[in-house]
Amino acid sequence: MGPAKVETLHEVLSDWDGENALVSYDARTGSYLFIAVHSRRLGPAAGGTRLKTYPTPVEALRDATRLARAMTLKMAVAGLPMGGGKSVLAVPGELSPEDRRHLLLCHAHNVETLNGSYSTGPDVGTTSADMDVLHEHTEHAFGRSPAGGGSGSSAPDTAVGVFHGISAAVAHVHGGADVTGVRVLVQGCGAVGESLVGMLVEAGALVTVSDIVPERVETLQTKYGVTSVVPDAIDVECDVYSPCALGQVISARTIPHLRCRVVAGAANNVLVEAADGERLQEAGILYAPDFVINAGGAVHLIGYERLGWTTEQVEAGVRGIGTTLAQIFRDADEHGVSTERAAERLAEARLAAGPKRRE
Ligand code: NAI
Ligand code: PHE
Repeated sequence: MGPAKVETLHEVLSDWDGENALVSYDARTGSYLFIAVHSRRLGPAAGGTRLKTYPTPVEALRDATRLARAMTLKMAVAGLPMGGGKSVLAVPGELSPEDRRHLLLCHAHNVETLNGSYSTGPDVGTTSADMDVLHEHTEHAFGRSPAGGGSGSSAPDTAVGVFHGISAAVAHVHGGADVTGVRVLVQGCGAVGESLVGMLVEAGALVTVSDIVPERVETLQTKYGVTSVVPDAIDVECDVYSPCALGQVISARTIPHLRCRVVAGAANNVLVEAADGERLQEAGILYAPDFVINAGGAVHLIGYERLGWTTEQVEAGVRGIGTTLAQIFRDADEHGVSTERAAERLAEARLAAGPKRRE
């Protein structure tokens, strides 16, 4: 065997079908700052800022480009008049509060240079408070705190969308959307996972949770009496596996270990590669495509902050995620394709049709 192939930034970008990427480096914190604008076909691009440590800057850029593409599909399927983009701030390790603030302001400066063709928002590793910091240098930050003039965390609405998505998947598999007695494994008890667990328990589901932070698991055990498994456990007998931590959990390697009928969670880029959608189909596991089921956050941020929607309109948009998924499940069955493929086809049709005309 020869040496492992090491990708370059150039290879990542030339393999990508996006519009442009901004790459910069901050010497003070030793961090790389990436902004990937995938498509503005349906409107200006939007997508969160992920702040995380990666093994290499190339892997961080790869994540940004893949996540940006997912945002394009998410906006298209959700019917939002926006394109897709994503930012990744690849930090070498934990930053001091001063360095973190410095890095966020560098990022805000980069966002501002794009003149509104890309707006950011919270994602893994960033919060509404961070969006307030970005807002010091740029108007183009969704999801600021209510005190800072924004619509606050998108996580609760993301969780509501995932709940409707799980119900739609359960209805497709069992013939009824009632989740009473349905066994759900929620991996990741963060902002979305915690809200989702509350809704599932209230609706009568039997919930098992995991998290790498033991206190988060303990909190949910005390509050809801849920059971727990070790982080990363996927070989758990259940009806629904709901990945709500990080992506890349479904692959040729992990699928044989799954013991569920449905995969339906909030994490972005759940599949390692598109072929995993077909592998799940062959294994008889119904997959709710991530960019469809986790659109509640985008509906919340774009609905409230860009489209001026009322709470009722945002709630209707988030509920619509269940209806859209039900249609995707039927389309996939009808055409004998994976649900991932059926969802991509819906997105491609919307992208081909172009922006909706406002009457
Ligand atoms: P978060 O950072 O608040 O929560 C993630 C949780 O997963 C943390 O508690 C973390 O300790 C845990 N975790 C990390 N690795 C784990 C592992 N191997 N096993 C078990 N737990 C693990 O993030 P948030 O906001 O709850 O988002 C969750 C996922 O949903 C992310 O992938 C995010 O990209 C996605 N998402 C979030 C949206 C939002 O509005 N917050 C919108 C759309 C997608
Ligand atoms: N990061 C979240 C997502 O992946 C929320 C978000 C949506 C942030 C749209 C910015 C813009 O959906």
